Amino acid sequence: MAQLDIRGLEARYSDLTVLDGINLTVERGEIVSLIGPSGSGKSTLLRVITGLLPPRAGTVSVGGEMVNYADRASLRRAREKLAIVFQQYNLFGNMNVLRNVMVAPVTIKKRVRAEVEADARRLLDKVGLGHKLDAYPDELSGGQQQRVAIARALCLKPDILLLDEVTSALDPERVGEVLDTIKLLAAEQMTLLIVSHEMAFVREVSHRVVFMAEGKVQEIGPPAQIFDAPLMPRTQAFVSRIMRH
Ligand SMILES: Nc1ncnc2c1ncn2[C@@H]1O[C@H](COP(=O)(O)OP(=O)(O)O)[C@@H](O)[C@H]1O
Ligand SMILES: [Mg+2]
Repeated sequence: MAQLDIRGLEARYSDLTVLDGINLTVERGEIVSLIGPSGSGKSTLLRVITGLLPPRAGTVSVGGEMVNYADRASLRRAREKLAIVFQQYNLFGNMNVLRNVMVAPVTIKKRVRAEVEADARRLLDKVGLGHKLDAYPDELSGGQQQRVAIARALCLKPDILLLDEVTSALDPERVGEVLDTIKLLAAEQMTLLIVSHEMAFVREVSHRVVFMAEGKVQEIGPPAQIFDAPLMPRTQAFVSRIMRH
């Protein structure tokens, strides 16, 4: 059973078709990366999966259960299995790092505070911020804030972590530390669906790479196929363009 199973998914913004018959599965422990030109629908796909935009057609199953996006209970069950990190980390500026990571599990999920705190400390240690528990977001670099955002997402204990261009807003010298954090998760067999422009990183961590353009999946394959021997002319053009710089 796939952790995530997407079939015939369509989405629109008013009369603009943004996702046009997407089929995609992500297995447990699999790392799948979405690449493609700006505007190809990568973020929209993650928005639909997480229930931020209702699909117009098609189905999404999370953990074997088909999500009914019109039904709050069904959507809540799906969301319990998913966590998403965006380009903008959106930490709470009035809370220190530890509180930022603990707040949702404690207040929304009603988990036992001491257990959440133990998890939060362990996760912040893992992302290399065990020494910054008392710091406030504005005292941290962008890379540190993004690592807090990743720890915060992990503290929700998701079955699948979705990452949407989490390094795009960072200064170049801060990108590596965030990619290293994601590599740690990859090494632990976390199920990941990643949108990234960092092609060397995508190539290194992904089991499969999905090339999207114009709201469609154009090609799916292992990194060696997509980057070295793409089957579709559209993929070839994209890859040769991005590999030139
Ligand atoms: N909130 C929105 N309202 C209207 N159109 C949108 C909105 N967000 C994205 N789009 C359009 O949907 C298409 C896909 O966008 P997006 O999913 O953000 O692409 P990507 O993440 O691959 O760059 C683009 O044509 C974009 O202009
Ligand atoms: Mg995007």
